[in-house]
Amino acid sequence: MEFSDIENDLAEVLYTEKEIHEKIAELSRRIEADYAGEKVLLVGVLRGAVMVMADLARELTIPIEMDWMAVSSYGSGTQSSGVVRILKDLDTDLHGRHVLIVEDIIDSGLTLSWLRANLESRGTASVEICALLRKPGAAKVVVDVKYEGFQIPNAFVVGYGLDYAEQYRNLRGIGVLAPHVYA
Ligand code: XMP
Ligand code: MG
Repeated sequence: MEFSDIENDLAEVLYTEKEIHEKIAELSRRIEADYAGEKVLLVGVLRGAVMVMADLARELTIPIEMDWMAVSSYGSGTQSSGVVRILKDLDTDLHGRHVLIVEDIIDSGLTLSWLRANLESRGTASVEICALLRKPGAAKVVVDVKYEGFQIPNAFVVGYGLDYAEQYRNLRGIGVLAPHVYA
C-alpha cells in the first residue's frame, strides 16, 4: 500500500506534520518555563498518545521521566462511559511527583477526569494535563487542560497516533476520516 492510499481515506487534513510540530514546540516552551527546576514525570496514555509523547519528550529541554498507562472506558459502542478500567498501570511511585498526563485527544473528558483523580489520590505533588486535541462540543465534564494543542470540531479524526480500528496511527498529519471508509 502506498502512503498516498492511506491519505485518500481522509475527507480533510486538519493539521500537517509541520503544524503539529510547531504546536508541540510552543507547548514545550510553556512546560519548560512552568517546571523549571523540577523533574516532571510524563504519563502517556496508551496507545493514542505515543506520537505526542515521543515528540514532546524530545522537544523538552528539562529533565523528564516517562511512564505509561493503558485504560479502557466501558460504554456502548464508541461512547465513553466514564467507567474506567486500568489495563496497564504505572511502574512509578507517584508520591511527591509532578505528573504531566500526555494525551492525544479529549472527547467527552470522562476518561481524563477519572485518570486525573486517580493519579492525584496517589500522593502526587501536582497533576496537569497536556492534550494535543480537544473537542469542546463533545464535553460531558469540564476538564482543566493546562496545555492544549488544538480545538477541533466534533468529528472522528485519525493520524498521529489516533486510530480507526487500529489503522492510520502512522499518518504524520491529522485528518477527518472519509465516510466511505466506515460505510
Ligand atoms: P473521552 O470521551 O473519555 O475519550 O474523553 C477519550 C478517548 O476517546 C478516543 N477518541 C478518539 N480516538 N479519534 C480517535 O482515534 C477520535 O476522533 C476520538 N475521539 C475520542 C481516544 O482514545 C481518547 O483517548
Ligand atoms: Mg487515547
